[in-house]
Amino acid sequence: MQRTKIKEILTQEKTDYTVNVKGWVRSFRNNQFIALNDGSCLGNIQVVIGLDAAEDVVKYITNGACISVDGTVIASLGKGQKVEIKADNVVILGECDPEKFPLQLKNKPSLEYLREIAHLRFRTNTFGAIFRVRHTLAYAVHKFFNDRGFVYLHTPIVTASDAEGAGEMFRVSTLPFDNPPRLEDGSIDYKEDFFGRCTNLTVSGQLEAELGAMALSEVYTFGPTFRAENSNTARHLAEFWMIEPEVAFNDITDNMDLAEDFIRYIIAYAMEHNREDLEFLAQRLVDEEKQKPMNERSELGLIEKLEFVLNNKFERITYTQAIDILLDSPAYKKKKFQYDVKWGIDLQSEHERYLVEKHFKKPVIVTGYPKDIKAFYMRQNDDGKTVAAMDILAPGIGEIVGGSQREERLDKLMTRMEEMHIPTEEMYWYLDTRRFGTTPHAGFGLGFERMVLFVTGMSNIRDVIPFPRTPKNAEF
Ligand code: 4AD
Ligand code: MG
Repeated sequence: MQRTKIKEILTQEKTDYTVNVKGWVRSFRNNQFIALNDGSCLGNIQVVIGLDAAEDVVKYITNGACISVDGTVIASLGKGQKVEIKADNVVILGECDPEKFPLQLKNKPSLEYLREIAHLRFRTNTFGAIFRVRHTLAYAVHKFFNDRGFVYLHTPIVTASDAEGAGEMFRVSTLPFDNPPRLEDGSIDYKEDFFGRCTNLTVSGQLEAELGAMALSEVYTFGPTFRAENSNTARHLAEFWMIEPEVAFNDITDNMDLAEDFIRYIIAYAMEHNREDLEFLAQRLVDEEKQKPMNERSELGLIEKLEFVLNNKFERITYTQAIDILLDSPAYKKKKFQYDVKWGIDLQSEHERYLVEKHFKKPVIVTGYPKDIKAFYMRQNDDGKTVAAMDILAPGIGEIVGGSQREERLDKLMTRMEEMHIPTEEMYWYLDTRRFGTTPHAGFGLGFERMVLFVTGMSNIRDVIPFPRTPKNAEF
């Protein structure tokens, strides 16, 4: 018999037909009631086996075992489910020794413990829900851009350029570590390396996306990016996924509008298609918050928070206004900030969170940052001090989007690159777009995992990517 997904049986609520289901045992009560899950949805189907079932099968029905069940879907006699399966035949596909099964060994395993067994954590309700939501968000990203005529451009993962100019790159090389070929001055001879030059894993697909936008008008990338920054925080990964649209003819205001529409769209899409998972995660958050002191609990539940974002425009302020708000804040006056506040500083996470969580209580778009704390490619404003940058700050997360209008004027771009010691000759290909038919354009990068954090209400970024890569950690 062909396998039916548990989700289909639970949502249809039809009865009196035969099915085959396959999945993993979540619990087995009274030698009679199996809760079976196949990951197609949060819910388990209850499988009822006869009291006369063969003993040599029953003894292998343990938590974590994989089984196949042929049976009839009937109206459930018990509470808690509308339908259940009366089993005619149970086949053990994969045994699972409960004495050794790591998920069985801990009652209510912590998120930290589950991170250590990330290869098995998909089997829990929480991680099942997170990764179904993550999938839906990824699908919604492609749908949003596809519906608007954007071209999905696959930008390279191995690159010779440092798009952000922050020097946080992982080297890609096949040279022997112990004895690399050297030039006369002792430096490594990358001409001998695989690509004949020094190469790295990309930190961003933006520069190549710009090249595409200068012909296709609207493009986006959605791929893995890598940063060797030694930030062991709940918001940083060494390998994360980024979505980067790049649009010819857009200015900074168009860019903000696009980012806002985009964020709202993917949240709405997940709310529509993953309601059950989100409600489960909302309840998980309520339970977690109960452990916190009153003043640290969030005012809104997860679903209300997401609805709030859907129904309210983001606040738009300039960096200069942000600094004024911070200087005027009780937190600053009472010296609650760890880092100093003055015009020119890079906003720290405590400052960003003050703005969104305490002051505005909604997502905030900050524009017009000082040029000295931003990348070389951002368009210079007429004041000579700021650039047309935009960061979107989200409650509970901090920066979720970074973007800008790009400097399309060749002379200004070259001058800025020279000031920042970025090799203009090597980057001839980037500059060529400004030489041959330049035009204003703009784009941004959304950190996908930070978005998944926001939507799922989880608090550690390691819990929203299947196998996190962080400093000193590349297990699995
Ligand atoms: O602000 P960032 O560095 O911007 C860029 O890379 C631009 N090239 C984007 C563009 O304009 N096309 O990174 C963009 C976003 C951040 O706002 C953040 O959400 C996420 O990427 N991000 C990270 N997420 C997880 N771990 C890290 N280490 C991250 N670094 C940045
Ligand atoms: Mg940034």
